[in-house]
This record gives sequence, C-alpha cells and structure tokens, in this order.
Amino acid sequence: MTELNAFYRLSNGIKMPKIGLGTYTLKGAQAYETVLTALKLGIRHIDSAIIYQNEQSVGQAIRDSGVPREAIFITSKVPPHIKNAPGALRMFEKTLKNLGLDYLDLLIINAPGPFHDLDGDYDRENIEVYKLLEELYKQNRVKAIGVSQFKVKDIKNIIDHCDIVPHVQQMSFFIGHTQDDIVTYCQEKGIQIQAFSPLAKGYLLTNPIVLTIAENYQVTASQIALRYILQKSHAVIPKASTETHLRLNTELDFVIHDDDMKTLDAIKDDPRKYDD
Ligand SMILES: NC(=O)c1ccc[n+]([C@@H]2O[C@H](COP(=O)([O-])OP(=O)(O)OC[C@H]3O[C@@H](n4cnc5c(N)ncnc54)[C@H](OP(=O)(O)O)[C@@H]3O)[C@@H](O)[C@H]2O)c1
Repeated sequence: MTELNAFYRLSNGIKMPKIGLGTYTLKGAQAYETVLTALKLGIRHIDSAIIYQNEQSVGQAIRDSGVPREAIFITSKVPPHIKNAPGALRMFEKTLKNLGLDYLDLLIINAPGPFHDLDGDYDRENIEVYKLLEELYKQNRVKAIGVSQFKVKDIKNIIDHCDIVPHVQQMSFFIGHTQDDIVTYCQEKGIQIQAFSPLAKGYLLTNPIVLTIAENYQVTASQIALRYILQKSHAVIPKASTETHLRLNTELDFVIHDDDMKTLDAIKDDPRKYDD
C-alpha cells in the first residue's frame, strides 16, 4: 500500500487518509479545478471551512469527480468567532448546503477563540459548541468531531466537561514547529493530529538543512517536509494549486532515516509570515 492509499484509524474506528488537500485561499474556478485534479490524482481527504468561501466550488468538484462520496474524507470547521450552539448549528447546515452533502467526515471547532482574541477565555462557549458537535455525531451527521489550534488546557476543558474525547486535533505542525506538549497530550488521549501548514505556508522550502537532506534522498524539500510529518504519525493537509505540486505531495513513499529525522528535529524555527 502506498502512503496515498494509507489511513489512520481514529479512536472511533473511522479511517482518515494520511494525505489530504488544504483549500484555504483557493477560490472559485481555481478551487474547483484544484479539488478535481487532487481527486483525479488519488487524494481522498479534503480540508475545507465555511470561512474559506469556496465550499460550493469544492462540493461541485467532489460531485463532478465521479469518486464515490464514501471514498472521500471531508473536514469542515465551526468558524472561530461562532461560540454558541445555535450559531454553530446554522454554520453546519450552511456548510452542508454549500458542499451539497448530507454528512461530514469530520467537524472541528476552528480555534479556541475568535482570531482577534485567540488568548481570550472561551472555555464555557467551547463546551457549548462542542456539545452541539456531540449531538451531530450521535445523529450520524458527522462521522468524527474535534478541535483545532487548541492548547492543552483547551482540550482538557473539553475532556473534563463533555462526553466524547475529540477524535482529532488539527494544528500547525511542521519541521521546526512541533508543539511537543500538545502532541504528547493528544497522543496520550488517543487524539489524531491533522497537521496544517505542513510546509509552513511554503516558507520552509528554502531551509538549507531541509534542502540538503532533500538532495541526498533525490526528492524535493516539500517531500521531506511532508514525509517528516507522516513519520511522526500525523496526517498532512498541504494546500497546493498546481498539478505538479499536488502530484509531488502524493509521492511520499520513501523513509527518512533516524539520523536525518534527528537533524530535522533539531531545527527550531517558525518562518511563517502573516502579512502577505
Ligand atoms: N485549522 C486552522 O486554523 C488552519 C489554519 C491554517 C491552515 N489550515 C488548513 O491547512 C491547509 C494547509 O496550510 P497552509 O495553506 O497554511 O500552508 P501549507 O500547506 O504549509 O503551504 C501552502 C504553500 O505551499 C506551496 N506548495 C504546496 N505544495 C508544494 C510543493 N510540492 N512544492 C512547493 N510548494 C508547494 C503552495 O503553493 P501553490 O499553491 O503554488 O501550489 C502554497 O504556497 C490550509 O489550506 C487549510 O486547509 C487550517
């Protein structure tokens, strides 16, 4: 089995493909074409969100691809600023309508707080929204539920006050930025990590250490970056918009040796920029 066809089994038994596609910043026709191409190349895991404003294009591509719905793992998110159950339900219904689907594979709370107040205290509100997710899960309208960008204290808050341990935590994770405390906690609790910004939004790809290792393996820096994450047992959802990039992101069937993994582990850097 290739990594493209491989999956992680969530704590409830649901299968999540290891390799996915991120869709943030893809809009309209570009979102449609990219998702269609990804599905044609065999990618079966799509990360979306109502705030990406591309769900209709993503849904259309899924329908036009001819790939059976049940063969695709689709994630969506309750927007970060929606911190009450009626609002979250409205967003969920809207997402399903936009995508043209009748269930999601994974629904997560996008962030512990609104983006303008990420460090604010939304414990009570997150419990309320997560309980709504639990309801949707029990109704079989979502196959798995989870959180995103949650710190250990935020996940603990959910576990302490809700019934279902999140199946997934979606978080930024890439070479140089491994958030070890959160990963360790999630692994103890059986929570699968879905790594977003696995290429550090592309900024990791000029790192000289990564480039040197890539050359030794005769692969690209992007392949080293993604393979590193798979070897940590996390799923990857790189965003790509060209067929060349999409294809490269599916070709991860090689092994980074332990000594090179250690070299990559020693990198400590978050090169992401947010003002571009
Ligand atoms: N939960 C959250 O709060 C959250 C936050 C951020 C992101 N996400 C999700 O995670 C996804 C990925 O994260 P991201 O978009 O921040 O960044 P990313 O996937 O780390 O990087 C995307 C960039 O890498 C380039 N790229 C992709 N494949 C490549 C390849 N093989 N070779 C060279 N360059 C390549 C893309 O270029 P091209 O477009 O030119 O191909 C794009 O510029 C998002 O799209 C979104 O779905 C979730």
